[in-house]
Amino acid sequence: MNEKIKVMIDEETIKKRLEEIATQINREFAGQEIVLACVLKGSVFITCELAKLITVPVKMDFVTLSSYGSGTISSGVVRMVKDFDEDIKDKNIIVIEDIVDSGRTLSYLFNHIKKSNPRSLKLFALLDKPERRVVNVNIDYIGFSIPDKFVVGYGLDYDQKYRNLSYIGVIETDQ
Ligand code: PRP
Repeated sequence: MNEKIKVMIDEETIKKRLEEIATQINREFAGQEIVLACVLKGSVFITCELAKLITVPVKMDFVTLSSYGSGTISSGVVRMVKDFDEDIKDKNIIVIEDIVDSGRTLSYLFNHIKKSNPRSLKLFALLDKPERRVVNVNIDYIGFSIPDKFVVGYGLDYDQKYRNLSYIGVIETDQ
């Protein structure tokens, strides 16, 4: 089976959209410090790219979550594997996700962070798949809304591969 990747969103388009969102964040948090809360692993690329465009003081922290299930089927139960390193009380937190699908991960994390009383809490997703939503979640900054296709690149993987692509692509298979 050969895998071919068709470009869905190219690098230039992603860059432009990130610049727009960063400008909005810089304006909204002028004079304040923010923490970019990266959800590993997929969001690491987008967190770094966004951080470079932020002009207010910025810190980065990392969390690992997992959805247990059998094989590729998610159980829908989200579990904390690694919590943030720093105390998030009274901080301006922006959670960075590569993609929101069912919404379970972001919803779990939102509730988890809220318990620590941050000063503010905003959610960023590079990609949003609204058709797949099971749990309602209010995303403050959305890069792109996309159809229900399996996408890779810019942090997103297929069997841990393709995270390093500089664009968002769709896998096409020749069997
Ligand atoms: C992906 C993605 C989100 C989550 C979204 O993570 O990065 O965290 O799934 O799905 P949901 O909206 O249905 O909860 P994944 O578990 O594939 O881990 P990864 O980031 O390490 O690839």
